[in-house]
Amino acid sequence: MTDTTKQDHVLIFDTTLRDGEQSPGATMTHSEKLEIAGLLDEMGVDIIEAGFPIASEGDFAAVSEIARNAKTSVICGLARAQIGDIDRCWEAVKHAKRPRIHTFIGTSPLHRAIPNLDMDQMAERIEQTVTHARNLCDNVQWSPMDATRTEEDYLCRVVEIAIKCGATTINIPDTVGYTAPRESAALISMLLERVPGADEITFATHCHNDLGMATANSLAAVEAGARQIECTINGLGERAGNTALEEVVMALKVRNDIMPFHTGIDATKIMNISRRVAAVSGFPVQFNKAIVGKNAFAHESGIHQDGMLKNAETFEIMRPEDVGLTETNIVMGKHSGRAALRSKLENLGFELGDNQLKDVFVRFKALADRKKEIYDDDLIALMRTATDPE
Ligand code: KIV
Ligand code: ZN
Repeated sequence: MTDTTKQDHVLIFDTTLRDGEQSPGATMTHSEKLEIAGLLDEMGVDIIEAGFPIASEGDFAAVSEIARNAKTSVICGLARAQIGDIDRCWEAVKHAKRPRIHTFIGTSPLHRAIPNLDMDQMAERIEQTVTHARNLCDNVQWSPMDATRTEEDYLCRVVEIAIKCGATTINIPDTVGYTAPRESAALISMLLERVPGADEITFATHCHNDLGMATANSLAAVEAGARQIECTINGLGERAGNTALEEVVMALKVRNDIMPFHTGIDATKIMNISRRVAAVSGFPVQFNKAIVGKNAFAHESGIHQDGMLKNAETFEIMRPEDVGLTETNIVMGKHSGRAALRSKLENLGFELGDNQLKDVFVRFKALADRKKEIYDDDLIALMRTATDPE
């Protein structure tokens, strides 16, 4: 089982291949899933949710092969609160060195109405299914789907049942991205305080980003005592997506002064896996996406470029190398200043006197007014018609 003995260690549970793949249009092929699972394992993800084995033959085959190949990550499969789902899930994950069964049921009033179970009937179903899962596997995660809209007393009751029946991780999903950071923290604190046996299991937080608060909610839950964050690469996931792995990992690194927790993730692998997930899912990363967007380490304005050239810390709170990029991208455009132009031209091998720089700068600005982005070739062309150095 995963080591949760260190109180400042936060486990990273990646669900790109399950919740991420549930985004309409993000389906990945068998070999693409194997590739992404391999990259997740290599970067130090603690638990990989590899799929939903009952959903299709393809999902079953992918989860089974990922389980066989995994080197260090725990391999988890998802199952509804049904015996047949759980058996199928176990058949797929049992090949892993470290398998996990994740079973769930919707516990909020809206979700209870779907299978038409009353509170007692649902509690009984939870007892049967968690017990069944635990008889198959010693690592069982249970989730009350839509936990953030479930009545507190009922949530405490069903969490207690799941713990008594052997669940080792209790995941608290904010299924529709409805909660706010303060509530996310209060919910975990409340469960830790009220549920007998809560201090013996790991609480996980699973947030969706419908109101753009998934990262904040996940971190608030950790501050309140959750020790597993469920997330996806690039925040891929249904509707507005899930908590982005790269955001929580880097937030815990950069702001370790106020959030003294760490993960086992090798952050220098972030950029590569982000690009691969974007490519195989067909979901491009927005330019201004935190950490992995094309512009996350790019600077165009003259004041920023000048500051960056003097001391990168003026406008960057982390180094591009920290997430696997080779360098900050100084983008030449109409907002760029003289210092950036000189530095860029020097990197291209041109030594400029002050008058020559003045002349090139005027022509560079005129070009930048006509053209959105100025490439190295444009600058070289400008230099061909430059005045001689004085
Ligand atoms: O968002 C959710 O509630 C889920 C569960 C299956 C954990 O993805
Ligand atoms: Zn989800």
